[in-house]
Amino acid sequence: MDSRWWSHALFYQVYPRSFRDSDSDGVGDLDGVSAGLDYLESLGVDAIWLNPVMVSPMADHGYDVADPRDIDPLFGDLAAMDRLVEAAHARGIKVTMDLVPNHTSSAHPWFQAALAAAPGSAERERYIFRDGAGPDGSRPPNNWLSIFGGPAWTRVTEPDGSPGQWYLHLFDAEQPDLNWDNPEVFADLETTLRFWLDRGVDGFRIDVAHGMAKPPGLPDMPTAKPEMLLAEMDDDPRFNHDGVHDIHRAIRRVFDDYPCAVAIGEVWVYDSEQFSRYVRPDELHLGFNFRLVRADFDARDIRSAIENSLAAVDLVDAVPTWTLANHDVERPPTRYGGGTAGLARARAMALVMLALPGAVFLYNGEELGLPNVDDLPDEALQDPVWERSGHTRRGRDGCRIPMPWSGETPPFGFSDHPDTWLPMPPEWAALTVEKQLADPASTLAFYRRAIGLRRAREEFSGSAVEWLDSPTDVLVFHRSGGLVCVLNAGAVPIPLPEGEVLLASGPVLDGTLPPDTAAWLV
Ligand code: GLC
Repeated sequence: MDSRWWSHALFYQVYPRSFRDSDSDGVGDLDGVSAGLDYLESLGVDAIWLNPVMVSPMADHGYDVADPRDIDPLFGDLAAMDRLVEAAHARGIKVTMDLVPNHTSSAHPWFQAALAAAPGSAERERYIFRDGAGPDGSRPPNNWLSIFGGPAWTRVTEPDGSPGQWYLHLFDAEQPDLNWDNPEVFADLETTLRFWLDRGVDGFRIDVAHGMAKPPGLPDMPTAKPEMLLAEMDDDPRFNHDGVHDIHRAIRRVFDDYPCAVAIGEVWVYDSEQFSRYVRPDELHLGFNFRLVRADFDARDIRSAIENSLAAVDLVDAVPTWTLANHDVERPPTRYGGGTAGLARARAMALVMLALPGAVFLYNGEELGLPNVDDLPDEALQDPVWERSGHTRRGRDGCRIPMPWSGETPPFGFSDHPDTWLPMPPEWAALTVEKQLADPASTLAFYRRAIGLRRAREEFSGSAVEWLDSPTDVLVFHRSGGLVCVLNAGAVPIPLPEGEVLLASGPVLDGTLPPDTAAWLV
C-alpha cells in the first residue's frame, strides 16, 4: 500500500450529527455515515475525517470527551464504528477520526477525581489548577480569555465547601485543559491512539494542535482577544508554545508503528516559518493551513494565501493541505457575498483549490453549495459560543445544519424525525442530493466532474506551481503536470488563455471567462 496516500488525497469531513440519521432521533450517527458511503464513493472521496464520536456530554458537540476509547451512544457503539471502517475500506475509502488532546470533558473521571481531591494532589496535577489572585484568591490567576468568550478560568468549591482553586479552560468551562507537563497525560493519549489504530482507523485530525503546551508561569496575554488564530508575530501565550513540538514528536513516534496512518493537525498559526515547524519530518504529516479560509474573494489575497501556504511547507519539504470550509467557519457561498454571486465564487474557489498540489478537505454539504443559515431563532442555537459570549456572538450552528438528501420538505431524508437537532430551511428543497444528482448543471454535478478529473488526469501531477502574468483581478497558475487554472475575480469578462477547457465553474462563452468564474485548461 502507498504509505503516503494522504499526500494527494481528497478528504471529506463528516460532521456526524449532520450527515445522516439512521435511528430516527433527529441527530446523525455512525450507521448514517455507513449508509452514505455509496454517495461518498461516487463523489470520489479518498478518505473521511469524522468529527468526534467518542463518549461526551456534548457541551461542545463532542469536543468535550469523557471517554476517548468508546463511542457515544448518540452516534452508536464500537460495533457501529467497526462496521463503518470495514464498509469504507471495502470501497477503498480511509477513515480518520478527530482526537482532542488539549482538554477533556469536565465529566471525564480524571476531572471528577481532581474536583474531589485537594489542591496539590496528584489528581489535580493532570489539569491546570491554580490559586486565584488577590488576597482571598477571588480573581482568576491570569487574564487569559476563553476562545468562546469570558475568562479562561473557573473557580471550584473545595471538597470541604470552601471557595477554592481555579482551573484553566481555553474553551468552554466543561472543557478543562490538560496538564501536558504530566507524563500520565501522554501515556493515556498513546493508549487512545493505539486503541483506534489497532481497530483499523487510518489516522487522526488533531484538535487544537498548536495548543497543549503552556508557557511556564502562565504569563498574562499582552493583548486580550478571544479568537484562536495567531497573527504574524503573535504574542498570544495561550498557543504555539515551543514545548508543543516535543508533544508532536512523541505522537509521531506512535504513528511510526502504523506506517500508513496519517496525523493532521489543526494549526491556527499564521506565520509561515512558525507553521512549518508543525510539519517537520518527525512531527505531523499534514497541517491545516487556514490562510485560504481567511482570504477574501480578491485575487491578490488568494494568491498571497496560496503562496504563503506553499512556502510554509516548502521550508520543510512537507505536503500542502487546502480547505475552504469546516464546522467552525461560515460556509463559502455566504462568506463570498451570498446569493448567486456567492455561490459562483464558491464554485470558482473549489476549482482553484482542487487544482493545487497536496491534500484537499471538503466539508459535508460544500459539494451541494449549501449556504450558511444565519436566521436560526435564538432558542434553536446550540453552540456554547452563544451563551459564553453573553449572546454577543451567535456561534457556528449556521454551518452545521443537517444535509438535505431528498424530498420536498424538511428533514429532506436526513432523518425520519421531524425535529432535527438544528432546524433545516424549507428552501433547501432545491438543494437536495436527489435533485442535484438529476441535474447536470448542479453544483454537485460540478464537484463530481472536478473531483473525477483531479483523480484521473495526469496534468494534476507535480508539486510545482508557477504563476503566469495576468491582470490585477485575475489569477493564472500552471501546475508542473500541465494544468492551467484561471480565476476571474474581477468585474468584467476576460479572454481565456490558450488551451482546451477541461472544466469551468460557470458558463464560458466565445472564449471569455465571466466574473466570479474559474476554468481548468490543458
Ligand atoms: C477546534 C474544533 C472546534 C472546537 C474546539 C475545541 O477548534 O474545530 O469545533 O470547538 O477545537 O475543542
